[in-house]
Amino acid sequence: MNLKNYIALVEDYPKEGIKFRDITPLLANGKAFKKATDEIVEYAKEKKIDLVVGPEARGFIFGCPVSYALEVGFAPVRKPGKLPRETVEYEYDLEYGTNTLCMHNDSIKPGQRVLIVDDLLATGGTVEATIKIIEDLGGIVAGMAFLIELEDLNGRENLAGYDIMTLLKY
Ligand code: PRP
Ligand code: ADE
Repeated sequence: MNLKNYIALVEDYPKEGIKFRDITPLLANGKAFKKATDEIVEYAKEKKIDLVVGPEARGFIFGCPVSYALEVGFAPVRKPGKLPRETVEYEYDLEYGTNTLCMHNDSIKPGQRVLIVDDLLATGGTVEATIKIIEDLGGIVAGMAFLIELEDLNGRENLAGYDIMTLLKY
């Protein structure tokens, strides 16, 4: 099963010039979704993970089944105004705009080994902000896994020194 067959290309969304990789056909196919999730779980098994962290919103879709399979907790990274208690925040640039991300102050215990899971690595801004927050809270980024990597945007170069696994490269 080639998972690329389940990723739709949408030109000029959400802005002109952006080639948007739409994961919803993959999510709609149980076998494709399971295969993608299982491959991330296999990668994570060697990493002795204590916690999965996923950025809103598509990071929740892949992060939660991975945390369930590993029998570890899940901590959400959210956009501002969504978490009800005290947060750590970090602002960053996106392929198509800027964004701020937040986590609850107590979402990571110092020394916990964290796996970051998201659907897609583009510029790496989202994951860099996520790493900053995790490390501010005393967590160790043990690895990160993405369904898709957009190689032209060089996200991987900005993440030197971290262990990165991506399933589909464009
Ligand atoms: C998308 C995607 C990643 C991020 C990747 O999320 O799900 O989280 O962009 O881009 P980057 O590597 O350049 O940071 P988006 O912020 O569009 O939010 P969504 O998941 O709520 O659609
Ligand atoms: N997030 C950032 N860039 C993206 C792209 N080109 N397609 C889908 N999601 C994205």
